Amino acid sequence: MRLRFMAIVLFSAFQSSFSQTDNAVEKKIQQLIKKMTLKEKVGMLHGNSKFYTEQIKHLGIPEWALSDGPHGVRAEMNRHNWKYTGQTDDFSTSFPPGTAMAASWNLELAKQRGIVLGEEARFRKKDVLLGPGINIIRSPLCGRNFEYLSEDPFLISQLSISYIKALQTQDVAACVKHFVANNQEENRFVVDVTMSERALREIYLPGFKSSVVDAGALGVMGAYNKFRGEYCTENNYLGRTLLRKEFNFKGVYMSDWDAVHSTEKAALAGLDLEMGTEKENYNDWYFADPLIKAVQEGRIKESIVNEKVANILRVMIKTKVLDPQTRIKGSINTKEHQQAAYRSAVEAIVLLKNEKQTLPLNMSTLKSIAVIGDNATRTHCGGGFSSEIKALYEVTPLQAITDKYGKSMQINFAQGYEKQSHVVERSSAGQLNTDKADWKLIDEAVAQAKKSDVAIVFAGLNHDFDSESFDRLHMRLPYGQETLIQEVAKANPKTIVVIIAGSPLELAGIESRVSALVWGWYGGMEAGNAIVDVLSGKEFPSGKLPFTIPVTLSQSPAHALGAYPGHDLKVNYDEDILVGYRWFDTKQIEPQYPFGYGLSYTSFEISNVTADKKVYGVDDEITVKFNIKNTGKTNGAEVVQLYAGQTAPSVLRPKKELKAFDKIFLAPGEQKTVDLKVKVKDLAFYDEKTSGWKTESGEFMLYTATSAKNIVNSLAVTIQ
Ligand code: GLC
Repeated sequence: MRLRFMAIVLFSAFQSSFSQTDNAVEKKIQQLIKKMTLKEKVGMLHGNSKFYTEQIKHLGIPEWALSDGPHGVRAEMNRHNWKYTGQTDDFSTSFPPGTAMAASWNLELAKQRGIVLGEEARFRKKDVLLGPGINIIRSPLCGRNFEYLSEDPFLISQLSISYIKALQTQDVAACVKHFVANNQEENRFVVDVTMSERALREIYLPGFKSSVVDAGALGVMGAYNKFRGEYCTENNYLGRTLLRKEFNFKGVYMSDWDAVHSTEKAALAGLDLEMGTEKENYNDWYFADPLIKAVQEGRIKESIVNEKVANILRVMIKTKVLDPQTRIKGSINTKEHQQAAYRSAVEAIVLLKNEKQTLPLNMSTLKSIAVIGDNATRTHCGGGFSSEIKALYEVTPLQAITDKYGKSMQINFAQGYEKQSHVVERSSAGQLNTDKADWKLIDEAVAQAKKSDVAIVFAGLNHDFDSESFDRLHMRLPYGQETLIQEVAKANPKTIVVIIAGSPLELAGIESRVSALVWGWYGGMEAGNAIVDVLSGKEFPSGKLPFTIPVTLSQSPAHALGAYPGHDLKVNYDEDILVGYRWFDTKQIEPQYPFGYGLSYTSFEISNVTADKKVYGVDDEITVKFNIKNTGKTNGAEVVQLYAGQTAPSVLRPKKELKAFDKIFLAPGEQKTVDLKVKVKDLAFYDEKTSGWKTESGEFMLYTATSAKNIVNSLAVTIQ
């Protein structure tokens, strides 16, 4: 009895101390606001430069320092223009971008990334890191796909939660973006996106809801586009109904840069902070003198301004901006940070094809390797616009092969293809006429391939295609690479292609011609080391595709329905909830490679799949248990995915949806018993009739799988 009593006393003490902290924070906020003039308050609600907001010296409130980006701390910009300062102390660690992080399916690595980025942001004296970018990969052509994560809201949510929670332990605020439906760069500043409430709730909102509600994201960035007729930054439904009321968001809702279009409308819709407005005089910004005037003329109550200042002060207090003595100092460009970037790059690599065990290469017996392609020598960290990083270094594939094996074998390099494109901001014009093969280069590459034991073509894209501010024109390999690869493969039966890109490509023209196909992503600063260590077997491939790779663009839902990029600056998401594999499954279309797909150098056996019950109540949690064994001869990791599908729903539902996953590392012969859990309430669909989530009783199928296509076991359970 005594023990129970003690427990109750302890818990209530914790609870009250917890609320005391909250109360203390709120008290401090109100005390500070009371001492501010209206001008000082409004000074905190808009930028005073590209990436800072105004200080209030007499109250000890410093300028607030915001910085990109999602996969590294961006180099220092001039305060009042979009040029870099060119200083030499702002190099940083560059991780592989979003889709590569997602391809690892490793939440531990997402956490590690959050911690490293937090440490580096602190070291660079940044208070807010403008990431992660989590918009759904809806069209393969979206220029920013590389920066985002996936086509699946569950995978996005899990990764975002791990990343944000970890980042914010370093006294840095995350700023999850871009809220909401910023799924194309074409006309991104003005396009009006519409979709059903169900598509919003089931596909486009969950990542943001999880980031705010489950991870406690302290910042949310309003997107450029309109949503249902109103700009996101002045959209009451988004800013008030969803963010503030439903998500109970108490952090800062800031605009994307130059995404604000009004004073009163935006202020009343819950926007706190205006950034990046392209008006020369900061006092002319919407949340500057015009806001002061609106308050003075009674069009906006001062309490609305106070609420915004309170949101910003709350984030400042929670990240110890007002408490510099105890604040984390951080660190930058450490070996640990670079090792974290390396691990992230290794675990992202997806093995798509490996005929006759072409891979791993036996580097002790090989006498010569032909290394071909522009992407063997091109660096990528510094491209893509706002997420670009001035990496301390970047190892290219050719560099890595030469450093590691140049002494023990002949490395025969050939350019293979030239980068014929260039960047044109806000237009894909730079991609035009970039399809022609260069036969002189191809002949040189064929000659090198002929005289080498193996040929590796580093192909794919670069940030002339995968970039913010414009979309791709098509999904084909540019620069005549297909012809190059076909010719090289004719010259050497052991031809391996490594795709360096961040978004889907058409691979049908090369897949059947080569003996091995690997998706290497933009691997960050350690890209070259990671890909070479996987090709050589020093590391093993364990990545899985975070998006479907269609055979052709027309297979992709948004394109099959002509619902991209929209007409007259309006786009309706006609595919509704059938995004990505949800479309391919339901329409029974065979993609080139399915969501969640990736091979290994070893083999696995999954057995004894069971559910803990046959019948579940709506408040239950389902546990699927299985054995997994490494039945091969080398180390490996398998990502086991649990999908659920309702057998006879009253509304259209996807055949199956991802509800749980785990990445399991096993040595040869090793086996583990693994549980995957899913709450029955998470099997619900959003019912537009009742504007609520609904879990219908009846049979559900639980699919244990190693990709959206490879179902290892199907279990029928009943929901009562
Ligand atoms: C950009 C991007 C956003 C970035 C911001 C600051 O236009 O849309 O992701 O964080 O402006 O660079």
